[in-house]
Amino acid sequence: MAKYNLTPVVVPHVATKFRKIKTKLPVPESLKVFKTLSESEPVSMMGQPPIVWDKAEGFQVYDKWGNKWIDWSSGVLITNAGHGRKEIIKALKEILDRKLLATYVFIHEKRAELTKMLQAISPDPANYLVFLLSTGSEATENCIKLAKTWAFEKHGPQKKYFVSFNNAFHGRTLGAQLAGGNPKLKTWIVDEGKTFIQVPFPRWLQE
Ligand SMILES: Cc1ncc(COP(=O)(O)O)c(C=O)c1O
Repeated sequence: MAKYNLTPVVVPHVATKFRKIKTKLPVPESLKVFKTLSESEPVSMMGQPPIVWDKAEGFQVYDKWGNKWIDWSSGVLITNAGHGRKEIIKALKEILDRKLLATYVFIHEKRAELTKMLQAISPDPANYLVFLLSTGSEATENCIKLAKTWAFEKHGPQKKYFVSFNNAFHGRTLGAQLAGGNPKLKTWIVDEGKTFIQVPFPRWLQE
């Protein structure tokens, strides 16, 4: 696991319209946050850059110690909706004011609004249904389950192979890792079986 060096170093100061660096990096006062995380999180969470975000305004992110950056990260690994979008803040506030914790068992109106909206922007709304999940790995697991269930029901148990591409990444859960094409990420599975097969990515798709 890649880990950043957490020794504060003197870096050139920056003071432009959108950026400001006025401390050592990492900021010495921020080290306690990294310490707490390293004591309470697994090592898989420790490859993140040694800055601590505190708040955002438009495309800028700020730490607590007077530094500000342009956020080029595009919300890596999450959908980039932008910082401080008024519509999102308003919608979240409305939900919070309702004091309702939604569950999977009881439906609420917003769920219907969201599924309808997502279905409408799908490539073929009449043939697309929406399944709301929290992560890409869950979506991958469900795709695997749907594909294999369909194959089994239509063609029988011999139709058990799942083909994906070398070097592909599909998530961190078991099915998603089996479908992934990076052998290094799969050593923990030990007996991974032979129903998930990776092939080279076709060259014509890369060109
Ligand atoms: C192509 C692809 N599939 C699946 C995933 C897994 O998504 P998540 O991290 O939300 O479980 C990722 C995440 O990086 C991904 O890039």
